[in-house]
Amino acid sequence: MSRIWTKTTFPLNTGATIPAIGLGTWQSKPNQVREAVRVALQKGYRHIDTALAYGNEAEVGQGIRDSGVPREEIWITTKLDNTWHKRVEEGIESSLKSLGVDYVDLYLMHWPSSTDPDDLSKHLPDWDFIATWAEMQKLPASGRVKNIGVSNFGIRNLEKLLSDPRTKTVPAVNQIELHPNCPSPKLLQYCKEKGIHCTAYSCLGSTDSPLAKDQTLKALAEKKGWSAAQVLLLWGLQRGTSVIPKSVTPERIEANFELDGKSLSEEEMKQLDSLPDRFKVCGDAWLPIKVFFGDDE
Ligand SMILES: NC(=O)c1ccc[n+]([C@@H]2O[C@H](COP(=O)([O-])OP(=O)(O)OC[C@H]3O[C@@H](n4cnc5c(N)ncnc54)[C@H](OP(=O)(O)O)[C@@H]3O)[C@@H](O)[C@H]2O)c1
Repeated sequence: MSRIWTKTTFPLNTGATIPAIGLGTWQSKPNQVREAVRVALQKGYRHIDTALAYGNEAEVGQGIRDSGVPREEIWITTKLDNTWHKRVEEGIESSLKSLGVDYVDLYLMHWPSSTDPDDLSKHLPDWDFIATWAEMQKLPASGRVKNIGVSNFGIRNLEKLLSDPRTKTVPAVNQIELHPNCPSPKLLQYCKEKGIHCTAYSCLGSTDSPLAKDQTLKALAEKKGWSAAQVLLLWGLQRGTSVIPKSVTPERIEANFELDGKSLSEEEMKQLDSLPDRFKVCGDAWLPIKVFFGDDE
């Protein structure tokens, strides 16, 4: 499966196509992300992932403008924050204003939790993510949002969303944590059956990744003559998921995009599929409700 990954896109159920490789921006420190976005776009990235909750949309917008790459060539994803579920219209307007753009390509519900803005330990008593989705469904008609999707939805919450009569639009994307220590094969299969594309977040295992110590990964990267990050990104891409590695280090931003013509054999994919360790970077303990019910659920 040797491909020109930097030009590869994955089709969505809306007819749009999402670039396979994007730049993540969570935890990028102030004054770092503007430069990271510029470097990435000038290197050839055409997909940037941000969120209202990251507090960096304005800087991401500046980086986009610094790059000189025309807006229409770039895929921008941003996300509705948990405490904004009752304020979808305000949420998208805030993101567009911060980013300095007229539209985003993808607007995601960041988490299936309608958190009380006045008390983060509480879920709103009179609202849930189905009601949020009903509001989000109205957005594409205005042209300010090209595609809508969800994030951090396991099978249980997707079932709930898709079976509700208020749901008229199947999410185009489910952005979820995916790496060899959190592979969620059943969730991927479920999304495939429903026509929902999956984007892999924390695809390198995130900050101080435990995967850096994995001996199977290390040996495989050495054998191929590639970095461990490149191996992890290929594993994600070959599973049909888009990947959004975050880096603020120019050399890493560049190396993470040097994947063209590289591929893992079926045997090598299987080796990574069968790593025994399991961890999740983003659990649900900090939310007022439980949203994960096991690896895929
Ligand atoms: N929807 C959600 O709830 C959600 C949750 C988490 C993440 N996300 C999105 O997914 C993106 C990616 O996830 P993530 O930020 O958790 O983690 P990640 O992309 O898996 O890993 C980022 C970490 O890896 C380092 N790194 C990057 N390239 C490297 C390389 N070639 N070699 C060695 N280290 C490398 C980065 O360091 P430096 O930056 O210092 O180079 C950073 O510490 C986020 O930024 C965000 O956009 C979404």
